[in-house]
Amino acid sequence: MKQFESFRLDTSNECLWQNRVQINLPPKPFAVLRYLVENPGRLISHDELLDALWPETYVQPQVLRTYMLDLRKILGDDPACPRFIQTLPKRGYCFVAPVMEADVAGATAPAASKSHSTVPDEVVGREQELIRLKTLAEALACGQRQTVFVTGANGIGKTALVEAACHQMVAMLSASVASGQCVEGLSKKEEYYAVMEILRQLCASAVGETATRILATMAPAWLAALGREPEVSNIEPRSTQLRAPGDLCRALEELSKEKALILVFEDLQWANDSTLELISALARRRTPAKLVVLATYSSHCASAEHPLRTLKQDLVMHRQCIELVLSPLAKTAVRQLLSRELSQEAIPPGLDTYLYQHSEGNPLFVLALLRHLICEHFLRRECADSSGRWEQRAPFPDMETGVPQELVQLIDPEIERLNPTEQRILEAASLMRVVFPAWAVAAALELDPAETEEACDKLARRSCFVHRAGHDELPDGTRSDFYAFAHGLYREVLYQKQTASRRAKGHVRIAERLGGLFAGREDNVAREMAMHYEAAGNWKRAVHALRTAARHAHQRQAYSEAAQLLQHSLAIAEYLNDAERNVLEGEIQSELDMARTAMETKKQPANLSEEIDGFWMGT
Ligand SMILES: Nc1ncnc2c1ncn2[C@@H]1O[C@H](COP(=O)(O)OP(=O)(O)O)[C@@H](O)[C@H]1O
Ligand SMILES: [Mg+2]
Repeated sequence: MKQFESFRLDTSNECLWQNRVQINLPPKPFAVLRYLVENPGRLISHDELLDALWPETYVQPQVLRTYMLDLRKILGDDPACPRFIQTLPKRGYCFVAPVMEADVAGATAPAASKSHSTVPDEVVGREQELIRLKTLAEALACGQRQTVFVTGANGIGKTALVEAACHQMVAMLSASVASGQCVEGLSKKEEYYAVMEILRQLCASAVGETATRILATMAPAWLAALGREPEVSNIEPRSTQLRAPGDLCRALEELSKEKALILVFEDLQWANDSTLELISALARRRTPAKLVVLATYSSHCASAEHPLRTLKQDLVMHRQCIELVLSPLAKTAVRQLLSRELSQEAIPPGLDTYLYQHSEGNPLFVLALLRHLICEHFLRRECADSSGRWEQRAPFPDMETGVPQELVQLIDPEIERLNPTEQRILEAASLMRVVFPAWAVAAALELDPAETEEACDKLARRSCFVHRAGHDELPDGTRSDFYAFAHGLYREVLYQKQTASRRAKGHVRIAERLGGLFAGREDNVAREMAMHYEAAGNWKRAVHALRTAARHAHQRQAYSEAAQLLQHSLAIAEYLNDAERNVLEGEIQSELDMARTAMETKKQPANLSEEIDGFWMGT
């Protein structure tokens, strides 16, 4: 056994001990931890880790990140100040704690300790969902099987909710839990990958003996696939070869007779058809069983045409499953999450607003942004030790100056899954605001507007990045659809992915197209044109557009807006060469004076009327 701090890695029982408490880890996170602990004090690259854990299979490095997050949570490790797992950005990981050989039979060895499941961190803002799941657990006790799909964006908290629900059900029904993770790329190669993980866990759990016996008699092929030969002699050899879903369903139902059984399928968007068929059968069978299937899938990664969607819709229609769609956390829940993470009731002022705004309520983004603020010393403890309160040390950074690397690493793999044309389309869309019209994307890329609109539509149906947001009629009578980014951070990452020169080209093309479409009515779009020219570093045209916008504001008697626009154009004029600047500065200054005078004149009658009002009220 390897020991580090209060933990011991038990390789024979494939679990972790903290003092006398047993912590059961799913096989892959356990394997990751084992590899790290067995190779302490040196850099382990992503490739080395992936090769060690998935030899001969390509697996997205993103998977490692998820496992590291989980392991850190279990170990209570702080990535900003790691005691165990240190991330070396873009390179890999290093297990930094001293590791010692522990005596299995020694005093610290957990002789006959009771197996506990770990208490998951408290989930915030999911009270309604947990109440709903509690009601289902009550029905389960009467033999009504349940199937629940928990869906939502990546990082929205599907796994966290399922863990909390399992904990709740274990407490209510003392149920057995086993979970299987579907992994991108693996499900195609290994049939029933997640199911086998579940069976392996069941056979190694407290009900392991019963599970093995039931599988041996009712579903021997499944047991054989685990590498365990059924000991029963009267079984036909053929039945140990073919893994029939019906056999497994019956075996699981049998197992659930003694003790309620919770099967968790994580990230079903990566499941293959065989796994989906098994879940379908488990959900549809009518035999009473204290069996619950909790399945999560990322609504972002499962396109509208994914077989999983069809399965879920059919089950919903026949009332054979329920779906819990997780929405972003409300601001109060974000505040609770921050209190929990920082272990202090009152959080630094403004932190909740900043993180809520940038994360848009996605807990994964909240936590990543919080870690960033801590790593970069925007937040620090009052005193160096861990008892100090957290306080703000510097104004929080603007996302436009750079999305934290940890977030880029979360979002980038999703972008890379798209084909190159789709990536280009989204990059062009990021040149605008969160909401963008398809015609402007076509303009930025010099593509056919109709084809671009079709491509945007396809992206809205099949990807996580954008959704349709209405349509508008252009001055030339054509109709154009609008789309919106699902998250502001996606737009930022896509924007920052591009080279400055490519962005500049796109910005100028959009501004020119705006000018063309609204010819004679540029006043309406001058501000937007100015924004694009400024982003492209085309200072002269930016100044011109800002002055046009200011003139328009002046005509509407929006004098203070006009003054602001002119002041901004003065600031931009600084970048022009001397000759151009000298001419323009004088002109802008006199326009600014006019706007200010108009502001004053407009104010006077108002002041006067206030005084008059005051006079009458006083009498
Ligand atoms: N409601 C919640 N309360 C507290 N923490 C949460 C909540 N939802 C998610 N988290 C945390 O946010 C991170 C991402 O959540 P996770 O459940 O892994 O997302 P998903 O499974 O939807 O991709 C995890 O660290 C998780 O513990
Ligand atoms: Mg998850």
